[in-house]
Amino acid sequence: MLPTIDLVAPSLPSWVDQEKESRLVPDTPAFTHAYTNSTAHGIPQIALSPAQGKFTSLLASISGAKNVLELGTLGGYSALWFAQAIKGRGGKVTSIEINKERRDVAIENLEYAGVKVPEEVEILLGAGLDVLPRLAEEIDQGKRERFDFTFIDADWDNQAAYFDWGVKLSRGKGSVIYVDNVVRQLLEIGAVGAAEKDTTLENLVDTVAKDDRVEAVVMQTLGSKDMDGFLFAGLK
Ligand SMILES: C[S@@+](CC[C@H](N)C(=O)[O-])C[C@H]1O[C@@H](n2cnc3c(N)ncnc32)[C@H](O)[C@@H]1O
Repeated sequence: MLPTIDLVAPSLPSWVDQEKESRLVPDTPAFTHAYTNSTAHGIPQIALSPAQGKFTSLLASISGAKNVLELGTLGGYSALWFAQAIKGRGGKVTSIEINKERRDVAIENLEYAGVKVPEEVEILLGAGLDVLPRLAEEIDQGKRERFDFTFIDADWDNQAAYFDWGVKLSRGKGSVIYVDNVVRQLLEIGAVGAAEKDTTLENLVDTVAKDDRVEAVVMQTLGSKDMDGFLFAGLK
């Protein structure tokens, strides 16, 4: 049997993130400020890591995304990465945040980074399930373009509903839906692991597996933020 990572090098995930990823994702004043200013305002440190931010930004970039939809702005760290990915393509990042103070700090952080708000990144205040139908109306009325890349990073209880909205608001074949933290969610609802199983809670992976509008995969991740994983889906 292969030794587990714990036995080989317990500090390996953090070492890779801190010592190796930092060579590829060097600190810049804009991204560092987004972290430090958020912390100074008491915002919890639950943003993507620099490696995750760059990875999602690269995915948006190589998929040719023009318009990005984000659920969960926090202090605007991931939105800043997406703004970088789509810069010059004539689209924008539309991010939804339920908490007004976080929305205000995110605007501060994006403007500090030189991002035009709301032209390049628009932050809509409200609960995802209230805001998404309004976006659908605006798309139907021709006031808003469809999305090429949807990033779901909020409110685990409604992930499946957000996924469905993401598909409905997407441009079509090749559009991407990325759902963060799905492995942690599986652990939390007791779908795997020692936790008592709560069958009333939804398991997003099983829901998406039955969804014939998309092809999807779950990628497990290990890093300084412990073990987790994301669901990555492309519209057929
Ligand atoms: C994990 S954080 C987002 C991190 C951010 N994407 C980043 O990496 O920089 C989740 C955010 O979603 C927000 N949120 C929670 N429930 C929400 C809801 N129902 N609608 C919109 N935003 C929500 C929280 O206030 C929190 O700021």
